[in-house]
Amino acid sequence: MAELKVLFVTSEIAPFIKTGGLADVSGALPAALREIGVDVRVIVPGYPQIMAQMESSEELASFPDLPGFPHCRLLGSTMENGLPLMAIDCPALYRRDGGPYVDASGHDWEDNPLRFGLLCRISAILGCGSSPLSWRPDLVHGNDWQAGLTGAYLNIAQDAVPNIFTIHNLAFQGNFEPGYVARLHLPEQCYAIDGLEFYGRMSFMKSGLYYARHITTVSPNYAREIQGEELGFGMQGLLQVRTSDITGILNGIDTDEWNPAADKHLPFRFSTRNMTGKAKNKRALQELLGLQVDADVPLLAAVSRMTHQKGLDLLLEIAPRLLDVPAQIVMLGTGERQMQEQALSLAARYPGKFAAMIGFDEGLSHHIEAAADMFVMPSRFEPCGLNQFYSQRYGTPPIVHRTGGLADSVMDCTSQTLNDGTASGFVFSGMTEDNLYDAIARAVALYKDLTRWKRLRRLCMIKDFSWETSAKSYLGVYRKVLES
Ligand code: ADP
Ligand code: GLC
Repeated sequence: MAELKVLFVTSEIAPFIKTGGLADVSGALPAALREIGVDVRVIVPGYPQIMAQMESSEELASFPDLPGFPHCRLLGSTMENGLPLMAIDCPALYRRDGGPYVDASGHDWEDNPLRFGLLCRISAILGCGSSPLSWRPDLVHGNDWQAGLTGAYLNIAQDAVPNIFTIHNLAFQGNFEPGYVARLHLPEQCYAIDGLEFYGRMSFMKSGLYYARHITTVSPNYAREIQGEELGFGMQGLLQVRTSDITGILNGIDTDEWNPAADKHLPFRFSTRNMTGKAKNKRALQELLGLQVDADVPLLAAVSRMTHQKGLDLLLEIAPRLLDVPAQIVMLGTGERQMQEQALSLAARYPGKFAAMIGFDEGLSHHIEAAADMFVMPSRFEPCGLNQFYSQRYGTPPIVHRTGGLADSVMDCTSQTLNDGTASGFVFSGMTEDNLYDAIARAVALYKDLTRWKRLRRLCMIKDFSWETSAKSYLGVYRKVLES
């Protein structure tokens, strides 16, 4: 059979531009698919961070007069790992300082519908008969709301290939004023319940879900949860109707990028055979962040966007009780102002015990994963989550709320699961401060029992989280769609 060709549409890709897990997935899944013989090419907006990688690129196509959009070009290059990357060079929409979605002061770019509308428009052009490229995909794979209009554009095109759509987080939907339907040159008929209308707005996410031939999301448990009222964010009706077209595929991790035995971000490397590096990383982090240097005190860590979703408000509330246990806490994150301020004020109140770093720091996030004893993820909801994988691989058992992908990827540690070798962290049900506290207390109790703690750490580290299995599941979905 000829090689299957897939256009992978995404708004961020590690290591060039990252605000969260979507970048990690976009950096690793396409590469894993290539390993199993799929010809995947990735398309992204040409933000400055992407254009910096395009120095030796070639111009693949030019779009001087796409109705509704400024002049733009499509550039092609190859990433270090061999992955072909296409960037949309459109200075009027993408050449600016700030993040992919927000400006330097944290406000959404006002022209986001155009910025991501263009990503969808070009992706759809590449997936239909009039594509200017000789490489034509067999299907287009869109990710999250930023790619959501791709299906709507494909739907009105001639000779369009099928598309699949992956939900990474249903809470972010890209809903805008209905006037954008005309501004983005979509036909009026799209703006309907059976289309991309969503409570009086035009919705990129709804478009993604409605027009996709198949929908995937990033864990089997989240695939079920989004079909209910609590986590459906208004889309549950549509998702229930499409239930037989939804597949949950658990994310994997980039095991080269996240490998404690070879991680370039770590002061000291380690592996199951020699764990002394882990203790040295702990000491180095304590020194770096001004924590009391103490090998024995349990060091709890969180690295996360600071938003309601991530539930770190619970950890901040119980922090004083935890520090008394005693324990130390290190937090790295950015997000809601109030949460940032609360973290900073705890750091000021408990010097030497609580460290807060506000910002996004890839290198430090690796060091923290490696240095900490336990990793805390009390997410209210979590489509998949990646840090619970990273922390397991770094011998730092995660403490997680039983939700979404966290429930699919962390096995609660009990005498039985520790004995049968399946334990990999601590799981609590019910989002309350006491439930989180109890789970951490269970972890701390086991931590004091060195033999059993070492066993748990080892069980975490030997788990297989590579992308291979997930990539095969995506390939299964691609084949099913193409055969249907
Ligand atoms: P989400 O995509 O919802 O933020 P994930 O757990 O899937 O959650 O992915 C988050 C990714 O972003 C992880 O790789 C995590 O380490 C990283 N990350 C989050 N906040 C920070 C930060 N402040 N500094 C460095 N990395 C961060
Ligand atoms: C989203 C989700 C997160 C998931 C990531 C990658 O940002 O919030 O749970 O791991 O996408 O799929």
